[in-house]
Amino acid sequence: MAVLHQNVIEIVRLLSDGQYHDAVFLAEQLNLSTTDVEQLVRQLEKHEIPVLWGLEKGYKLDGSLILLNQKSIQSQLRHNYVPLTILEKTTSTNDYFKSLSKETGPVQACLAEAQTAGRGRLGREWHSPFAQNIYLSMLVPFEKDISDLSGLSLVIGLALCRAIDVTMMQQSKKPVVKWPNDVMIDNKKVAGTLVEIKESRPGFCQVIIGVGVNVNMHKALKEDINQAWTSLFNVTGQYIDRNIFSAQIIDTLIDYLERFSLKGLSAFSQEWETRDGLAQSQVAVVYNNRKITGTCVGINEQGYLKVKQANGHVELISSGEATLLK
Ligand code: BTN
Repeated sequence: MAVLHQNVIEIVRLLSDGQYHDAVFLAEQLNLSTTDVEQLVRQLEKHEIPVLWGLEKGYKLDGSLILLNQKSIQSQLRHNYVPLTILEKTTSTNDYFKSLSKETGPVQACLAEAQTAGRGRLGREWHSPFAQNIYLSMLVPFEKDISDLSGLSLVIGLALCRAIDVTMMQQSKKPVVKWPNDVMIDNKKVAGTLVEIKESRPGFCQVIIGVGVNVNMHKALKEDINQAWTSLFNVTGQYIDRNIFSAQIIDTLIDYLERFSLKGLSAFSQEWETRDGLAQSQVAVVYNNRKITGTCVGINEQGYLKVKQANGHVELISSGEATLLK
Protein backbone atom coordinates (compact mmCIF):
# COMPACT_ATOMS: atom_id res chain seq x y z
CA MET A 1 0.00 0.00 0.00
CA ALA A 2 1.17 3.59 -0.69
CA VAL A 3 2.77 5.40 2.27
CA LEU A 4 0.21 7.53 4.11
CA HIS A 5 1.73 11.01 4.50
CA GLN A 6 0.35 13.68 6.85
CA ASN A 7 -0.60 15.89 3.87
CA VAL A 8 -2.90 13.13 2.59
CA ILE A 9 -4.66 13.07 5.95
CA GLU A 10 -4.91 16.89 5.97
CA ILE A 11 -6.39 17.14 2.46
CA VAL A 12 -9.00 14.50 3.35
CA ARG A 13 -9.92 16.59 6.40
CA LEU A 14 -10.39 19.65 4.16
CA LEU A 15 -12.45 17.73 1.60
CA SER A 16 -14.53 15.79 4.07
CA ASP A 17 -17.16 18.55 4.35
CA GLY A 18 -18.67 17.27 1.08
CA GLN A 19 -18.12 20.61 -0.75
CA TYR A 20 -15.98 21.34 -3.81
CA HIS A 21 -12.72 23.18 -3.06
CA ASP A 22 -10.41 24.53 -5.74
CA ALA A 23 -6.67 23.85 -5.87
CA VAL A 24 -5.83 27.47 -4.91
CA PHE A 25 -7.86 27.25 -1.70
CA LEU A 26 -6.41 23.84 -0.84
CA ALA A 27 -2.86 25.01 -1.59
CA GLU A 28 -3.31 28.00 0.76
CA GLN A 29 -4.71 25.87 3.55
CA LEU A 30 -1.96 23.28 3.24
CA ASN A 31 0.84 25.75 2.59
CA LEU A 32 1.72 23.99 -0.66
CA SER A 33 1.77 24.85 -4.37
CA THR A 34 -1.20 24.03 -6.61
CA THR A 35 1.01 21.46 -8.39
CA ASP A 36 1.61 19.76 -5.01
CA VAL A 37 -2.16 19.73 -4.45
CA GLU A 38 -2.74 18.03 -7.80
CA GLN A 39 -0.16 15.39 -6.89
CA LEU A 40 -1.80 14.91 -3.51
CA VAL A 41 -5.17 14.34 -5.15
CA ARG A 42 -3.59 11.65 -7.32
CA GLN A 43 -2.23 10.06 -4.14
CA LEU A 44 -5.74 9.93 -2.69
CA GLU A 45 -6.69 7.60 -5.49
CA LYS A 46 -3.75 5.35 -4.60
CA HIS A 47 -5.23 5.22 -1.09
CA GLU A 48 -8.54 4.13 -2.61
CA ILE A 49 -10.22 7.42 -1.65
CA PRO A 50 -12.36 8.40 -4.67
CA VAL A 51 -12.27 12.09 -5.62
CA LEU A 52 -14.55 14.01 -8.01
CA TRP A 53 -13.32 16.93 -10.08
CA GLY A 54 -15.58 19.69 -11.37
CA LEU A 55 -14.58 22.36 -13.92
CA GLU A 56 -14.13 25.69 -12.07
CA LYS A 57 -15.25 23.98 -8.88
CA GLY A 58 -12.24 21.92 -7.88
CA TYR A 59 -12.26 18.70 -5.91
CA LYS A 60 -14.57 16.92 -3.53
CA LEU A 61 -14.71 13.44 -2.08
CA ASP A 62 -16.94 10.99 -3.91
CA GLY A 63 -19.22 9.47 -1.31
CA SER A 64 -19.79 10.41 2.27
CA LEU A 65 -16.43 9.97 3.90
CA ILE A 66 -16.95 10.84 7.54
CA LEU A 67 -13.81 10.88 9.66
CA LEU A 68 -13.73 9.36 13.12
CA ASN A 69 -14.67 11.87 15.78
CA GLN A 70 -13.89 11.25 19.44
CA LYS A 71 -16.74 13.43 20.79
CA SER A 72 -19.28 11.89 18.46
CA ILE A 73 -18.33 8.32 19.40
CA GLN A 74 -18.06 9.04 23.12
CA SER A 75 -21.47 10.78 23.16
CA GLN A 76 -23.10 7.71 21.63
CA LEU A 77 -21.49 5.11 23.85
CA ARG A 78 -23.73 3.58 26.51
CA HIS A 79 -20.55 2.41 28.27
CA ASN A 80 -19.24 5.97 28.14
CA TYR A 81 -16.68 5.42 30.90
CA VAL A 82 -14.47 3.53 28.42
CA PRO A 83 -11.25 5.48 27.71
CA LEU A 84 -11.05 5.82 23.92
CA THR A 85 -7.96 6.71 21.88
CA ILE A 86 -8.28 7.65 18.20
CA LEU A 87 -5.16 7.52 16.06
CA GLU A 88 -4.85 8.89 12.51
CA LYS A 89 -2.52 6.06 11.63
CA THR A 90 -0.61 3.36 13.44
CA THR A 91 1.13 0.12 12.58
CA SER A 92 -1.67 -1.86 14.22
CA THR A 93 -4.17 -0.93 16.93
CA ASN A 94 -3.22 -4.19 18.69
CA ASP A 95 0.40 -2.96 18.78
CA TYR A 96 -0.81 0.27 20.41
CA PHE A 97 -1.96 -1.69 23.48
CA LYS A 98 1.05 -4.03 23.37
CA SER A 99 3.35 -1.04 23.65
CA LEU A 100 1.59 0.46 26.70
CA SER A 101 3.22 -0.27 30.07
CA LYS A 102 1.52 -3.06 31.99
CA GLU A 103 -1.28 -1.63 34.03
CA THR A 104 -4.41 -3.15 35.38
CA GLY A 105 -7.42 -1.02 34.76
CA PRO A 106 -10.84 -1.18 33.22
CA VAL A 107 -11.51 -1.93 29.57
CA GLN A 108 -10.00 0.55 27.07
CA ALA A 109 -10.50 1.04 23.33
CA CYS A 110 -8.36 2.31 20.47
CA LEU A 111 -9.51 3.11 16.92
CA ALA A 112 -7.34 4.10 13.97
CA GLU A 113 -8.16 5.69 10.62
CA ALA A 114 -5.46 3.57 8.97
CA GLN A 115 -3.03 0.81 9.85
CA THR A 116 0.30 0.57 8.07
CA ALA A 117 0.94 -3.02 9.24
CA GLY A 118 -2.53 -4.36 10.06
CA ARG A 119 -2.33 -8.02 11.09
CA GLY A 120 -4.75 -10.89 10.62
CA ARG A 121 -4.74 -14.41 12.00
CA LEU A 122 -2.24 -17.02 10.89
CA GLY A 123 0.35 -14.37 9.98
CA ARG A 124 -1.80 -12.72 7.32
CA GLU A 125 -1.98 -9.01 6.56
CA TRP A 126 -5.15 -7.04 7.23
CA HIS A 127 -5.87 -4.52 4.50
CA SER A 128 -6.38 -1.19 6.30
CA PRO A 129 -6.94 1.77 3.93
CA PHE A 130 -7.47 5.25 5.37
CA ALA A 131 -10.90 6.34 6.68
CA GLN A 132 -12.96 3.54 5.15
CA ASN A 133 -13.26 0.73 7.67
CA ILE A 134 -13.14 0.00 11.37
CA TYR A 135 -9.82 -0.95 12.94
CA LEU A 136 -10.52 -1.34 16.65
CA SER A 137 -8.63 -2.88 19.54
CA MET A 138 -9.86 -3.28 23.08
CA LEU A 139 -7.73 -4.04 26.11
CA VAL A 140 -9.91 -6.21 28.32
CA PRO A 141 -9.14 -7.55 31.81
CA PHE A 142 -10.66 -10.84 33.04
CA GLU A 143 -10.55 -12.13 36.62
CA LYS A 144 -9.88 -15.62 35.27
CA ASP A 145 -7.11 -17.96 34.18
CA ILE A 146 -6.37 -17.61 30.49
CA SER A 147 -7.41 -21.26 30.04
CA ASP A 148 -10.95 -20.28 31.10
CA LEU A 149 -11.33 -18.03 28.04
CA SER A 150 -11.82 -20.86 25.58
CA GLY A 151 -14.62 -19.81 23.22
CA LEU A 152 -13.87 -16.09 23.58
CA SER A 153 -13.28 -15.61 19.85
CA LEU A 154 -16.69 -17.14 19.05
CA VAL A 155 -18.40 -14.72 21.43
CA ILE A 156 -16.60 -11.78 19.80
CA GLY A 157 -17.82 -13.03 16.41
CA LEU A 158 -21.40 -13.16 17.74
CA ALA A 159 -21.11 -9.62 19.13
CA LEU A 160 -19.88 -8.35 15.75
CA CYS A 161 -22.80 -10.06 13.97
CA ARG A 162 -25.21 -8.38 16.37
CA ALA A 163 -23.63 -4.93 15.92
CA ILE A 164 -23.68 -5.37 12.12
CA ASP A 165 -27.34 -6.47 12.21
CA VAL A 166 -28.36 -3.41 14.23
CA THR A 167 -26.43 -1.13 11.86
CA MET A 168 -27.68 -2.66 8.60
CA MET A 169 -31.29 -2.71 9.88
CA GLN A 170 -33.84 -4.96 8.21
CA GLN A 171 -31.35 -6.35 5.72
CA SER A 172 -32.34 -9.81 4.61
CA LYS A 173 -28.66 -10.75 4.42
CA LYS A 174 -27.62 -11.90 7.86
CA PRO A 175 -24.03 -12.04 9.05
CA VAL A 176 -22.86 -15.42 10.40
CA VAL A 177 -19.71 -16.63 12.14
CA LYS A 178 -17.43 -19.00 10.28
CA TRP A 179 -15.65 -20.85 13.08
CA PRO A 180 -13.55 -19.75 14.80
CA ASN A 181 -14.12 -16.04 14.23
CA ASP A 182 -14.60 -14.86 10.67
CA VAL A 183 -17.79 -12.88 10.17
CA MET A 184 -19.30 -13.66 6.78
CA ILE A 185 -22.12 -12.29 4.64
CA ASP A 186 -23.02 -14.27 1.51
CA ASN A 187 -19.95 -16.49 2.02
CA LYS A 188 -17.67 -13.46 1.89
CA LYS A 189 -15.64 -12.18 4.81
CA VAL A 190 -16.78 -8.84 6.23
CA ALA A 191 -14.97 -8.88 9.60
CA GLY A 192 -12.25 -10.69 11.50
CA THR A 193 -10.80 -10.83 15.00
CA LEU A 194 -7.26 -11.17 16.27
CA VAL A 195 -7.03 -11.95 20.01
CA GLU A 196 -3.63 -11.56 21.68
CA ILE A 197 -2.59 -11.98 25.32
CA LYS A 198 -1.10 -8.95 27.05
CA GLU A 199 -0.77 -10.48 30.52
CA SER A 200 -1.58 -13.80 32.13
CA ARG A 201 -1.19 -14.98 35.72
CA PRO A 202 -3.26 -17.29 37.94
CA GLY A 203 -6.74 -15.80 38.30
CA PHE A 204 -6.09 -12.80 36.05
CA CYS A 205 -5.42 -12.06 32.41
CA GLN A 206 -5.59 -9.12 30.08
CA VAL A 207 -6.31 -9.67 26.40
CA ILE A 208 -6.09 -7.42 23.36
CA ILE A 209 -9.11 -7.94 21.15
CA GLY A 210 -8.46 -6.61 17.65
CA VAL A 211 -11.43 -6.24 15.34
CA GLY A 212 -11.41 -5.29 11.69
CA VAL A 213 -14.68 -4.65 9.85
CA ASN A 214 -14.91 -3.75 6.15
CA VAL A 215 -17.34 -0.85 6.20
CA ASN A 216 -17.27 1.66 3.32
CA MET A 217 -14.53 0.04 1.21
CA HIS A 218 -15.83 -0.53 -2.35
CA LYS A 219 -12.89 -2.16 -3.95
CA ALA A 220 -9.33 -3.01 -3.03
CA LEU A 221 -6.27 -3.69 -5.09
CA LYS A 222 -6.52 -7.40 -5.90
CA GLU A 223 -3.13 -8.31 -4.51
CA ASP A 224 -3.98 -6.73 -1.11
CA ILE A 225 -6.66 -9.25 -0.14
CA ASN A 226 -6.30 -12.93 -0.88
CA GLN A 227 -9.72 -14.16 0.21
CA ALA A 228 -13.33 -13.49 -0.84
CA TRP A 229 -14.43 -10.34 0.98
CA THR A 230 -17.27 -7.87 1.12
CA SER A 231 -18.08 -4.67 3.00
CA LEU A 232 -21.23 -3.23 4.56
CA PHE A 233 -21.33 -0.72 1.67
CA ASN A 234 -21.19 -3.54 -0.87
CA VAL A 235 -24.03 -5.36 0.91
CA THR A 236 -26.34 -2.39 1.54
CA GLY A 237 -25.34 0.08 -1.18
CA GLN A 238 -25.16 2.72 1.54
CA TYR A 239 -22.35 4.48 3.36
CA ILE A 240 -22.24 3.74 7.07
CA ASP A 241 -21.40 6.44 9.62
CA ARG A 242 -18.33 4.87 11.25
CA ASN A 243 -18.79 6.96 14.41
CA ILE A 244 -22.23 5.50 15.14
CA PHE A 245 -21.04 2.03 14.12
CA SER A 246 -17.86 2.18 16.27
CA ALA A 247 -19.94 3.05 19.34
CA GLN A 248 -22.32 0.20 18.50
CA ILE A 249 -19.46 -2.30 18.23
CA ILE A 250 -17.77 -1.19 21.46
CA ASP A 251 -21.04 -1.28 23.42
CA THR A 252 -22.08 -4.67 22.02
CA LEU A 253 -18.65 -6.17 22.65
CA ILE A 254 -18.68 -5.00 26.26
CA ASP A 255 -22.19 -6.44 26.80
CA TYR A 256 -21.19 -9.79 25.32
CA LEU A 257 -17.84 -9.93 27.16
CA GLU A 258 -19.52 -9.19 30.49
CA ARG A 259 -22.01 -12.02 29.89
CA PHE A 260 -19.20 -14.35 28.81
CA SER A 261 -17.18 -13.47 31.91
CA LEU A 262 -20.14 -14.18 34.22
CA LYS A 263 -21.78 -17.16 32.52
CA GLY A 264 -19.30 -18.62 30.06
CA LEU A 265 -19.86 -19.87 26.53
CA SER A 266 -22.99 -21.86 27.45
CA ALA A 267 -24.91 -18.55 27.71
CA PHE A 268 -24.46 -18.18 23.94
CA SER A 269 -25.30 -21.69 22.73
CA GLN A 270 -28.72 -20.76 21.28
CA GLU A 271 -27.36 -17.68 19.58
CA TRP A 272 -24.49 -19.73 18.16
CA GLU A 273 -26.96 -22.09 16.53
CA THR A 274 -28.58 -19.20 14.65
CA ARG A 275 -25.19 -17.78 13.54
CA ASP A 276 -23.20 -20.95 12.88
CA GLY A 277 -21.90 -20.32 9.37
CA LEU A 278 -20.50 -23.86 9.06
CA ALA A 279 -23.52 -25.86 10.30
CA GLN A 280 -23.87 -29.04 8.21
CA SER A 281 -21.15 -27.87 5.80
CA GLN A 282 -18.53 -30.19 4.35
CA VAL A 283 -15.11 -28.96 5.40
CA ALA A 284 -11.44 -29.81 5.46
CA VAL A 285 -9.36 -28.74 8.47
CA VAL A 286 -5.66 -29.18 9.05
CA TYR A 287 -5.29 -30.05 12.73
CA ASN A 288 -2.32 -31.61 14.56
CA ASN A 289 -0.60 -32.12 11.19
CA ARG A 290 -3.54 -34.17 9.89
CA LYS A 291 -6.11 -33.20 7.32
CA ILE A 292 -9.57 -33.95 8.64
CA THR A 293 -12.59 -33.86 6.36
CA GLY A 294 -16.21 -34.23 7.31
CA THR A 295 -19.47 -32.47 8.18
CA CYS A 296 -19.59 -29.68 10.78
CA VAL A 297 -22.03 -30.59 13.54
CA GLY A 298 -21.70 -27.62 15.89
CA ILE A 299 -19.33 -26.80 18.75
CA ASN A 300 -18.72 -28.35 22.17
CA GLU A 301 -18.90 -26.54 25.53
CA GLN A 302 -15.34 -25.22 25.06
CA GLY A 303 -16.06 -23.87 21.59
CA TYR A 304 -14.19 -26.62 19.75
CA LEU A 305 -15.50 -27.37 16.25
CA LYS A 306 -17.13 -30.80 15.92
CA VAL A 307 -16.42 -32.47 12.57
CA LYS A 308 -18.21 -35.73 11.85
CA GLN A 309 -16.06 -37.92 9.63
CA ALA A 310 -17.28 -40.46 7.06
CA ASN A 311 -16.76 -43.30 9.57
CA GLY A 312 -19.08 -41.57 12.06
CA HIS A 313 -16.30 -40.46 14.43
CA VAL A 314 -16.69 -36.86 15.66
CA GLU A 315 -13.33 -35.08 15.82
CA LEU A 316 -12.96 -32.06 18.12
CA ILE A 317 -10.88 -29.23 16.64
CA SER A 318 -9.59 -26.62 19.09
CA SER A 319 -7.91 -24.29 16.60
CA GLY A 320 -7.25 -23.83 12.90
CA GLU A 321 -9.18 -22.83 9.86
CA ALA A 322 -11.89 -24.75 8.05
CA THR A 323 -11.95 -24.78 4.25
CA LEU A 324 -15.38 -25.29 2.73
CA LEU A 325 -15.58 -28.24 0.31
CA LYS A 326 -18.00 -27.89 -2.57
C1 BTN B 1 -8.40 -12.06 10.73
O1 BTN B 1 -9.54 -12.30 10.37
O2 BTN B 1 -7.43 -12.61 10.21
C2 BTN B 1 -8.21 -11.09 11.86
C3 BTN B 1 -8.23 -9.65 11.39
C4 BTN B 1 -8.07 -8.66 12.53
C5 BTN B 1 -7.85 -7.26 12.05
C6 BTN B 1 -7.89 -6.28 13.17
S1 BTN B 1 -7.91 -4.61 12.61
C7 BTN B 1 -7.65 -4.05 14.23
C8 BTN B 1 -6.61 -4.97 14.84
N1 BTN B 1 -5.29 -4.55 14.48
C9 BTN B 1 -4.66 -5.44 13.72
O3 BTN B 1 -3.50 -5.32 13.27
N2 BTN B 1 -5.45 -6.50 13.50
C10 BTN B 1 -6.72 -6.34 14.15
